[in-house]
Amino acid sequence: MATQYRVAPENPDPLDVSRAELWSEDRWQEPMARLRAESPIHYCEDSKFGPYWSVTTYKPIQHVEALPKLFSSSWEYGGITVAGDGVEHLQEGEIPMPMFIAMDPPQHTAQRRTVAPAFGPSETERMRTDTLKRTSDVLDSLPVGEPFDWVEKLSIELTTQMLAILFDFPWEERHKLTAWSDALGDIESFNTLEERQARLAIAYEMGAAFKELWDRKAQSPGEHDLISIMLQSDAMSHMSHEEFMGNLILLIVGGNDTTRNSMSAYAYGLHQFPEERAKLEANHDPDLAVNAMHEILRWQTPLAHMRRTAMEDTELFGHQIRKRDKLALWYASANRDESVFPDGDRIIVDRENARRHLAFGYGIHRCVGARVAELQLTALISEMQRRRLRVNVLAEPERVHASFVHGYRRMQVELERY
Ligand code: HEM
Repeated sequence: MATQYRVAPENPDPLDVSRAELWSEDRWQEPMARLRAESPIHYCEDSKFGPYWSVTTYKPIQHVEALPKLFSSSWEYGGITVAGDGVEHLQEGEIPMPMFIAMDPPQHTAQRRTVAPAFGPSETERMRTDTLKRTSDVLDSLPVGEPFDWVEKLSIELTTQMLAILFDFPWEERHKLTAWSDALGDIESFNTLEERQARLAIAYEMGAAFKELWDRKAQSPGEHDLISIMLQSDAMSHMSHEEFMGNLILLIVGGNDTTRNSMSAYAYGLHQFPEERAKLEANHDPDLAVNAMHEILRWQTPLAHMRRTAMEDTELFGHQIRKRDKLALWYASANRDESVFPDGDRIIVDRENARRHLAFGYGIHRCVGARVAELQLTALISEMQRRRLRVNVLAEPERVHASFVHGYRRMQVELERY
């Protein structure tokens, strides 16, 4: 008999937006709009993940993220998702795998500083030609006028290639990266001890493969991939095995679902707003492609929320928050905050302030891989334009059943030339 940890309440709060079905059925917009209008900082007394606060408007999210001492990301208190449990809930046989997204300063500062150069402006620029070429090759491999799954053939393929290059992972085995990442990132599926232990086994399999890569890299100093950079740094070369695995999971999972789902959102989002797609088809100005990239990220928001834990009793815009309360920062909602993004449910490719979106977060944890993700998504938009290709979505996509990763599992499409 499986040991069940998480049980959903029988009569859920209608404003409990952590319910996965709201996201897999694409019904989150209405309760979020209500929260923004009626209760932008809302206490949900009971949910599958226990009580938590929902923060749903732009300013308070920035406010919370600007105070990392008061609002912690630490894995010890449950980390960065509303689903996370603190160390006191660890079950026998479970081992925490700390990663720097779920650390506070000073550990966070040192580890982030180590990997950040791999995603800096000059490294990203170095990747540009290759990214355009890979995007081009994948697009050329797709059929025109025949149905296929965009998620599998385009979004997953391009994202997996990007990860393999960042890690200098053996090219022929790159699909393992996706399989590991999918299994480890699917936080909704760890409801029983058995499921949690299966996750640990996958993490160890991945850890063993990367240990081999790590040993090989140790023999060839001076390379620029992520493993070499970690290996050559003071902050990361002395990590425990668990911390090493935790950070690998972070870098692989962090870049995987997110980038993949932004590329799927390009197809789905523009299909919903053909007049906006027409603007991109008529105008190949690179600045418009970049603006459209930001707008698609805003509209999709591939990570719907991040979570923080209050370290002290405190007041937040008139609400009394107690020490150890959980706060879910709903980027998906802030990115549709009417006071910042009028008509936010619509994609407007030339929206003036699209780049103000919070899809990459805000403050000291703001996405370290943002430039690489932006490059990948802009390359897709411009290479589609260059080929005069349009993607038509043939049926409603199958969506991810989770309130953290916000994306698509399958999407039948057909390419057409215009
Ligand atoms: C952090 C979103 C792509 C690696 C974050 C955070 C968000 C985010 C919201 C903030 C976490 C927080 O405040 O707690 C996204 C989106 C992406 C994307 C929407 C694509 C469209 C990538 C890529 C990588 C990556 C390509 C690397 C391969 C990371 C890492 C962090 C992070 C390591 C932790 C940063 C820190 O704690 O200082 N990402 N991400 N992300 N992301 Fe991304």
